[in-house]
Amino acid sequence: MLESFARLRKEYQNPPLRAEELDADPFKEFEKWFALSVEREPFEANAMTLATADEKGRPSARVVLLKELDGSGFVFFTNYESKKGHDLQVNPQAALVFFWAAQHRQVRVEGRIEKLSDRESDSYFATRPRGAQLGAWASHQSRSIPSRDDFQGLLSAVEERFPGEETVTRPPHWGGYRLIPDQIEFWQGQPSRLHDRIQYLRTDTAWTRRRLMP
Ligand SMILES: Cc1cc2nc3c(=O)[nH]c(=O)nc-3n(C[C@H](O)[C@H](O)[C@H](O)COP(=O)(O)O)c2cc1C
Repeated sequence: MLESFARLRKEYQNPPLRAEELDADPFKEFEKWFALSVEREPFEANAMTLATADEKGRPSARVVLLKELDGSGFVFFTNYESKKGHDLQVNPQAALVFFWAAQHRQVRVEGRIEKLSDRESDSYFATRPRGAQLGAWASHQSRSIPSRDDFQGLLSAVEERFPGEETVTRPPHWGGYRLIPDQIEFWQGQPSRLHDRIQYLRTDTAWTRRRLMP
């Protein structure tokens, strides 16, 4: 078994990442990396692993989609009553990881979480395809259900509630979160596992940068 893992080993060949060449504002640097990923990653460049922890400190992680990057943070949408919703209510701290394999790049983001305003969640919800809007009503995300048929029953009940072309309003249990970072790390693969890591830390007034060992 270990033999086959050994065959998966990849070498990274990239130009070095120099702190002085990165933007002083990590949001601007992220935008550059993200734009390139949208161009070069085969699928879902905006997929990110979201890590949360519950009241006992037990961590849990899953993939969600980045839906907006505004001046203050990274926005994603979900069910507020899901497992992650529970974690974020009792412990509003989280981490995100982007892995862009085709570019040998990783970005790590850590910080505090706030809920979007109802108005912000409403505006995004209105842009979702109808099927996804109905699904948000039907799914009690993270709870168990005996079968897919049972879930189909819940979906049919929602379809009856919003017949025809009737506008689907946002369910109160569904909306957005914004992660407001105090740390962002840019990682670029390098030969012999001597990777480049540049970490930004937020102070009261500005961002500082430092290099971390691989
Ligand atoms: C590529 C991808 C994108 C996903 N995007 C979202 C998303 O934006 N929001 C969401 O709630 N779940 C999304 N999911 C599903 C989550 O990974 C997860 O199964 C779900 O949110 C329940 O997580 P929880 O039980 O930890 O709350 C996505 C999964 C994948 C693989």
